[in-house]
Amino acid sequence: MRTIRIFDTTLRDGEQSPGASMTVDEKVQLARQLARLGVDIIEAGFAISSPGDFESIKRICGEVEGPIICSLSRAKEEDIKRAWEAIKDAPRRRIHTFHSTSDIHLKYQFRVSRDEALKRSAEMVKFARSLEEDVEFSPMDATRSDPFFLCEVIEAVISAGASTVNIPDTVGYTTPDEFGILIKTIREKVSNINMSVISVHCHNDLGLAVANSLSAVINGAGQIECTINGIGERAGNCSLEEVVMGLRTRRDFFNADTSIRTEEIMRSSRLVTKITGIPVQPNKAIVGANAFAHEAGIHQDGLLKEKTTYEIIRPESIGLQSARLVLGKHSGRHAFKERLKDMGYEPSPEELEKAFERFKHLADQKKEIFDEDIEAIVSEEVYSIPEIYSLSDLYVEGGTSRRPSATLKLRIGEKTVEKTGFGDGPVDATYKTIVDITGTKSKLLSYNVKGITGGTEAMGEVSVSLEEDGRTVRGYGADTDIIVASAKAYINALNKLAYLKIGR
Ligand code: KIV
Ligand code: ZN
Repeated sequence: MRTIRIFDTTLRDGEQSPGASMTVDEKVQLARQLARLGVDIIEAGFAISSPGDFESIKRICGEVEGPIICSLSRAKEEDIKRAWEAIKDAPRRRIHTFHSTSDIHLKYQFRVSRDEALKRSAEMVKFARSLEEDVEFSPMDATRSDPFFLCEVIEAVISAGASTVNIPDTVGYTTPDEFGILIKTIREKVSNINMSVISVHCHNDLGLAVANSLSAVINGAGQIECTINGIGERAGNCSLEEVVMGLRTRRDFFNADTSIRTEEIMRSSRLVTKITGIPVQPNKAIVGANAFAHEAGIHQDGLLKEKTTYEIIRPESIGLQSARLVLGKHSGRHAFKERLKDMGYEPSPEELEKAFERFKHLADQKKEIFDEDIEAIVSEEVYSIPEIYSLSDLYVEGGTSRRPSATLKLRIGEKTVEKTGFGDGPVDATYKTIVDITGTKSKLLSYNVKGITGGTEAMGEVSVSLEEDGRTVRGYGADTDIIVASAKAYINALNKLAYLKIGR
């Protein structure tokens, strides 16, 4: 049984999904979860692309243990140096450098000849190798490149020291059989291929990213690049949960598996949705809301008699047990802290205190506290950013015969400001009043509300995205009252915008 390495690029290619930008703290939080999930390599960003990317890679290197931490860089000395600066303190690290090899890219985008592309690729791998032993090279647009030239480049970069060669289907153009043949050709024609791991990086423009990656595994690939929920540039990347569960479920066929702790899949998926605000379609394989919902009577009948009649994956194997009751009103600080630890969170004493207060408050309103409720509290209280604005009080009126209004008291630094405003509904009135009080000029791009756990006394979670001066941020709020959750989400997004303005 071969073990296929999982290279997660949610923080780099995933962040290239429109509107998916993440703050440094959110990236560190997600990287911790990826480590719990057991990915082999985390591509933490593209160091030269922005100070924020550089800082998040550096922080992940210092704070996240386990996986190899990698930075992307173009095949340019200044990029590679910056990548090295960002990763150098990680105990296990990698430089990933790339250069296009297709004639379309070389002719129209980079205006260089094949010879120049080959020479630069090999030189830059050699330069990266002078800084770091673990170097990955990607011939961008490999699947639209001349296979003979592609093999020449691969042979040259392996001679220059690349320990992984990654074959990207950059525009999601290939098909499973064709891609499998390409991987086989590389294995047969590149004389030094045994000195390197073959990786694949498939985009999903034709909906084939997972199938193409699996076909590559059959033909000898030893590493798959993928993202949680399949997010990424355009139609996204190969979805981690699908490719991992494909291999796990059909180990008998692939004779290959990964080291992923699949029980962490659901939590990773939810965290990515929460941080990026990109929802998962209900019928998405593995992590969609309907992935384990059986509607047809004949299926339900079979399941009741014997689960394997219609279930190929046990829901528990991806961490989807029916929400577990963990704590209640009488639980103490110690039990709360232990539960957080089991869930992988280790807050500082101050953060724990804040989260515990929220928990007690929630336990007064809601009899049963589930893991999802605790996750909502943690993401608000522990991974919060400095608060310029905070909600002191909110009172709303509405209904069928009243003009909806909201009276809010907001703290802005040391001051408290109170105002009343009107709107088309209580959320609209609340948002208009917040804008009136704060004098902010951001545009509301999206508003989503969902119940975290079942029942009408459940917590509601609201996510919004706001845009100002070309920056898009997402804000979250959770509360048993959805108008309060809505206000918190809007204020959280305003705080993020303010935080970004002061240079983070
Ligand atoms: O899609 C692509 O080609 C990439 C490379 C940088 C690996 O993301
Ligand atoms: Zn890509």
